[in-house]
Amino acid sequence: MSPIYLVLLLGMAASVASSSNRAMMHLHRSPSMNVDALRTEYFALEKSLWDYLDKTSNKETRLRKVYDSHMNFSSKWQFNGEFYEKKYDILNHYEWKILERDLVYINKLYDTYKDTFVHQNNSALLEERAVLDLAEHVLRNDKTFSMSRIFEEIEHTMIGQSLYYRAMLKFSDQICLPQQSAQQFIYSLYADIALTELKGYTMMEFSWMMLRVYGKGNYTQEAELMRQNYEKRTERTLKPLREVMRRADRIVWRCDPPKHKAAVTYDEITRLLQGYIENEVDLNTDETCRETCSFYQATRSEGCFKELFCARQPKCSGRLFDCQFVDSDMWVCPSAQNSTRRYEYVEYENGRVLGQRGQCVRGTTKVDSWWRYLFWHCSYCFCMCDEQGLKSDRFFNLRESLSDVKRNRVVTGLRFVKLNRIFHLQIQEAELLPRGAVNESTLEWRKIDSYNIFDRDVKKGVDYHTLSYESRSIDLDDIYTDDNSYVVTGVRFRVVGAHLNLEARLSELDFRTGQLIQPEVNSFWKSNDNTDVSGDDRRKKIPLSNADLPTRTITTSIPISRHNQYIDFTYTGLDKDAAQSTVPFIDIQDVTSKPPVPLSGIGIYYKGRQGYGGFLAPKIITYDFTPHVIVPTKNKF
Ligand SMILES: *[C@@H]1O[C@H](CO)[C@@H](O)[C@H](O)[C@H]1NC(C)=O
Ligand SMILES: *[C@@H]1O[C@H](CO)[C@@H](O)[C@H](O)[C@H]1NC(C)=O
Ligand SMILES: *[C@@H]1O[C@H](CO)[C@@H](O)[C@H](O)[C@H]1NC(C)=O
Ligand SMILES: *[C@@H]1O[C@H](CO)[C@@H](O)[C@H](O)[C@H]1NC(C)=O
Ligand SMILES: *[C@@H]1O[C@H](CO)[C@@H](O)[C@H](O)[C@H]1NC(C)=O
Repeated sequence: MSPIYLVLLLGMAASVASSSNRAMMHLHRSPSMNVDALRTEYFALEKSLWDYLDKTSNKETRLRKVYDSHMNFSSKWQFNGEFYEKKYDILNHYEWKILERDLVYINKLYDTYKDTFVHQNNSALLEERAVLDLAEHVLRNDKTFSMSRIFEEIEHTMIGQSLYYRAMLKFSDQICLPQQSAQQFIYSLYADIALTELKGYTMMEFSWMMLRVYGKGNYTQEAELMRQNYEKRTERTLKPLREVMRRADRIVWRCDPPKHKAAVTYDEITRLLQGYIENEVDLNTDETCRETCSFYQATRSEGCFKELFCARQPKCSGRLFDCQFVDSDMWVCPSAQNSTRRYEYVEYENGRVLGQRGQCVRGTTKVDSWWRYLFWHCSYCFCMCDEQGLKSDRFFNLRESLSDVKRNRVVTGLRFVKLNRIFHLQIQEAELLPRGAVNESTLEWRKIDSYNIFDRDVKKGVDYHTLSYESRSIDLDDIYTDDNSYVVTGVRFRVVGAHLNLEARLSELDFRTGQLIQPEVNSFWKSNDNTDVSGDDRRKKIPLSNADLPTRTITTSIPISRHNQYIDFTYTGLDKDAAQSTVPFIDIQDVTSKPPVPLSGIGIYYKGRQGYGGFLAPKIITYDFTPHVIVPTKNKF
């Protein structure tokens, strides 16, 4: 039998909805989401209960059966989601506000209903009066309250007025998204509404069954009609919902915080390439001044001629790059001993100021170039110093960070952390649950491998990468999978050429059971192997030069990079900052989604504003739930 024929057959089998193995297989391959599965499960329970009521007559046993089953069902964790007023305020939509009130009411009524079980946890003690009161409330059908009217309203507002679609547009319009992807937002909206509807429905069914048991009528037909309507409504809802979810973005990134705080919201690479003043006479081994500053594009500080200015500042013991002449004579304002800056600002006699002139706490130093033999000018040059040392934090962790797959944990969030001067990409993990849910009470940041670059057995290029003038690029990629049977279980950086390059570890899952399937075997690393010199689609560089500190802008950053690009760490602008800092900065805020979900990918991107150095930050790509929005097949509960 050809594979195509088999697929057709599988599809047919499912729509014919026989309980054959093939249909089961089909369901297994694309299981529905939690709330839909819960509904399906209740339909089956409900059917068995009505059958049971038709077959038995002992009041006590019938009571116990209906009661216990409903108590059991209502205690399922899938009901734990929280719906509250204003949760979806960004919709800012009149009809939604009205609907929301009704939904809140149903949820409250449901809490009362559950209380009945808690207070009378033994069906033998069940108080008839209390149950009949509840049934009366639930089945009320008048101007003040009518469950079926609310159900119609839900459909009218969400589908009739395309509120799911409009919600997606509204959500995506925001500049600073809340910690959710657009698809999550839509899914959460749907799940909350659908769960509320299911709660209302189970209460009605429970009420009818109880009335039946207490001999108040038959109610089989009412219940049957109700279910048919419910099934049709669900079908009419899921189709457009699926379309909206398919179109919705799945990226979560962090907007700038209201206030940038060093070591809290951002951190820096320090002294990678830093503005440094040196006289030409010290830039060559012969102590000559025959060239111009710009002749020295890659050199070293070779001496300290006559102990002039060179003796009054910490020497750059590394290499010097990109020297240039600004002006002959200047005042230099040195930075505090404990600062990673060398200079606060430099003011030249011609009026040009590098950096922001302010009070100079340590006092300025006058620095003058001089003439030698009338025709050689020994100028002070402005170069970039690439010097490793205790003040230069320029390391990236290369060890992998994996979630605890043995305990069925998957990655749910990311953040950059600087520890022992090394930047790590830390992962947040949580236990995977059935149907794409994660257990929020297991959510935690996985401990960082807190080694030190000076530790024994720690190797440069193996455990960590060191940035330098020649190797200071970082690739900006979205690493994700379109295969819905994989989720992220790890991250790491590797070095490709002179670039740091992100990799994501993907592991196979069984969506329905929420178990990773032999993660030791069914996992792989994924990355974007394109470079700026090879590959089908060469990486493009994001230009960055002459930038100010990103913390100085008053506007919030916006994402600038796209997949398959890269950026170089570089020095800040001469005029803006005397080239004392390294940009982009690193955003160290948590990138997580609320509620947490498994991820189908991760990424590193660059955000900022024109003229400012910007930030490098991680992003997460939430699991794609679209294939799990499945219109249930008839009779197949
Ligand atoms: C309640 O649920 C548990 C587990 O889901 C099941 O084993 C038990 O039989 C159920 N009880 C009733 C009365 O349905
Ligand atoms: C529910 O049952 C347990 C044990 O069966 C009992 O200890 C408890 O007091 C009961 N709760 C109520 C509210 O009756
Ligand atoms: C309830 O109504 C259904 C269909 O109307 C019928 O088949 C069933 O026998 C009735 N049950 C009782 C107990 O009257
Ligand atoms: C440097 O030291 C001063 C006082 O000794 C302190 O106020 C300042 O915060 C320190 N700066 C840094 C960057 O550590
Ligand atoms: C979630 O995790 C907690 C703590 O490990 C556990 O007690 C609870 O049963 C879990 N919930 C589910 C639905 O698995």
